[in-house]
Amino acid sequence: MRISSAAGAGARSVEAQLKVSRIPSLRLRTVADCVAPGAVVADIGTDHAQLLAWLRIQGRITAGLGIDIAAGPLAQARRTLAATRTEGVTLRQGDGLSVLTPGEVDTVTIAGMGGARVIRMVDAAAAVVERLTRLVLQPNSDWTAVRRWLAARGWVLHQERMVEDRGKFYVVWAIQPRPGPAASWTEDELHLGPRLLLERPPAFTAWLQRERARVDQALRRASVAGPTKGPRLAALRAHADRLSRALAPPPDC
Ligand SMILES: C[S@@+](CC[C@H](N)C(=O)[O-])C[C@H]1O[C@@H](n2cnc3c(N)ncnc32)[C@H](O)[C@@H]1O
Repeated sequence: MRISSAAGAGARSVEAQLKVSRIPSLRLRTVADCVAPGAVVADIGTDHAQLLAWLRIQGRITAGLGIDIAAGPLAQARRTLAATRTEGVTLRQGDGLSVLTPGEVDTVTIAGMGGARVIRMVDAAAAVVERLTRLVLQPNSDWTAVRRWLAARGWVLHQERMVEDRGKFYVVWAIQPRPGPAASWTEDELHLGPRLLLERPPAFTAWLQRERARVDQALRRASVAGPTKGPRLAALRAHADRLSRALAPPPDC
């Protein structure tokens, strides 16, 4: 991979570069915050390459490799890199992590895709993954399934962040993919997030409240529809209980 000595070398300031770039969404900036300084990063499904451009313009990473399966997004990525005059980012067309060689990068980011697809892509590239120091994941769906998968592998969870961006909530995980003993997270932790439950950032409280309102409405609809039984109703009730527990004020010590 081509690695240039500095992002935006020469007299151009970060501010000048940012003027011609689109500042990425809060969601992508949260993903960027989970990347360790100095990392060599492959961004899978890079699309517009805004994440890598942002990281490089700020001098946060040593080099970036944007990977996308489709030609159209890569053309958009080239436009972003040209418009922001970002150096030190290369682009490659291919499927997931399969176009990486083990040790080529130390960090992989995957953002904006479904959780099941993220799991499939990571599982298909064990040799690449075992040489990574960090995996940063922001799946748009299947958060509980992703947590079950992480727990089963015993990978170290560095950070679990939640962010609200333009009315939607997103979870971002920074993981050290070193196999260890499986994490014994409870069902509440698997559904709501072990670190989020502990750290309780404001976006998490806002999400709990929104989720509680959504589940209450679904339960009301179910009761109007008649005496509904079955696993879906039981799952809704269990989720409502879980949200109530998480929203309850902590007991006085
Ligand atoms: C919704 S966009 C997300 C873009 C960006 N990561 C973000 O979070 O804003 C998904 C991108 O992933 C690409 N993609 C889907 N499957 C892929 C795969 N198996 N390997 C590489 N790229 C893939 C798509 O072509 C698309 O550009």
